[in-house]
Amino acid sequence: MTKPDLRPCLQVIKPYQPGKPVEEVERELGLTNVIKMASNENPLGPSSLAVKAMQRHAGKMHFYPDGNCFYLKKALAEKLKISPESLVFGNGSDEILSFLSLAYVHSEEETLMVAPSFSEYIFASQLMGGVPRRIPLVGDNFDYDLEAVLNEVNEKTRIVFICSPNNPTGTIVLKKQLDHFVNSLPEKVLLVLDHAYLEYATDPNHPSGLDYIEKGYPVIALRTFSKIYGLAGLRIGYGITTPEIAGDLNRVREPFNVNAMAQAAALAALEDDEHLENSRRIVNEGRRQINEGLAEMGLKPVPDQANFFFADIKTDSRKAFQALLEKGVIVRTGDIFDLPTYIRVTYGTAEQNERFLLALKDVLAEVR
Ligand SMILES: Cc1ncc(COP(=O)(O)O)c(C=O)c1O
Repeated sequence: MTKPDLRPCLQVIKPYQPGKPVEEVERELGLTNVIKMASNENPLGPSSLAVKAMQRHAGKMHFYPDGNCFYLKKALAEKLKISPESLVFGNGSDEILSFLSLAYVHSEEETLMVAPSFSEYIFASQLMGGVPRRIPLVGDNFDYDLEAVLNEVNEKTRIVFICSPNNPTGTIVLKKQLDHFVNSLPEKVLLVLDHAYLEYATDPNHPSGLDYIEKGYPVIALRTFSKIYGLAGLRIGYGITTPEIAGDLNRVREPFNVNAMAQAAALAALEDDEHLENSRRIVNEGRRQINEGLAEMGLKPVPDQANFFFADIKTDSRKAFQALLEKGVIVRTGDIFDLPTYIRVTYGTAEQNERFLLALKDVLAEVR
């Protein structure tokens, strides 16, 4: 047969590189007891209430899910004191990023984001032929320079992505900075506040964005059940926005995009404040432990407000990654963010953090 000529679209898009799953590393390297600190998952697992809800619902999986996520919408709307029409659900908040592109980015139009930041903004921008433009974060602590972002807004700009706490740096924007930014953006530009790690931010000046939405600004705040709620495997996230924007996104949403198990688990997880508190506590304790351990190695992570840290290990992080992998510890390398001497590591349990620190100490002695 001659070689098919399918003329594929979107060749500009680079496939997403996920963190390596534990099973893959164990299979390939013949290891057991591998720990994954690469994808900012919750080391405590899901809430026990969510697990019980999934068990209760397992026998009902022959039914299609509720495409409108009625009960979850109602519960979240009550919790957040917003109208249910302001909510849109996705198969992970990743899916909402695609909805945004489908709904708003026309070919050749532009999106703005900082660098380094979450790679899916580039994917979402390119999905409909848009052009992503990146503005660097500034200084050793990777601070947001929103004036620099504003300077890049032009006639073609459709979306600005602000991730706070930012993946991979863990840094945040402050309410005062953002108030000025929101008021300065032209009305035709949508502001996406990616709040995947919102629940970990302890700074009282970190903005929720809900007041902008209430006042009718073109803003969407994205949240997820994948991180603090520990439900990444189920794929469920949501956007909080104006009913008009939610309506636009609902047009491009597939009818049953959020599965029934995810809806049941998320609804139960919302009730479990104790799980949330424990999840925050383990991160705060982990941060102290890791900061002390890294300081002993002469390393200093970027100050973060998330469940992970980003640190310059002053050596090729690809080599360090491989050596850590061989010791059963999976982390993320900085080269995917164009920072090849950095690693991003999710805070784990005290035992996992200790294993990481011991492994890193050995690895740095080997590779430096
Ligand atoms: C900043 C940020 N936004 C969104 C996501 C996607 O989350 P979800 O699992 O809800 O698709 C991630 C996942 O790592 C993330 O880091």
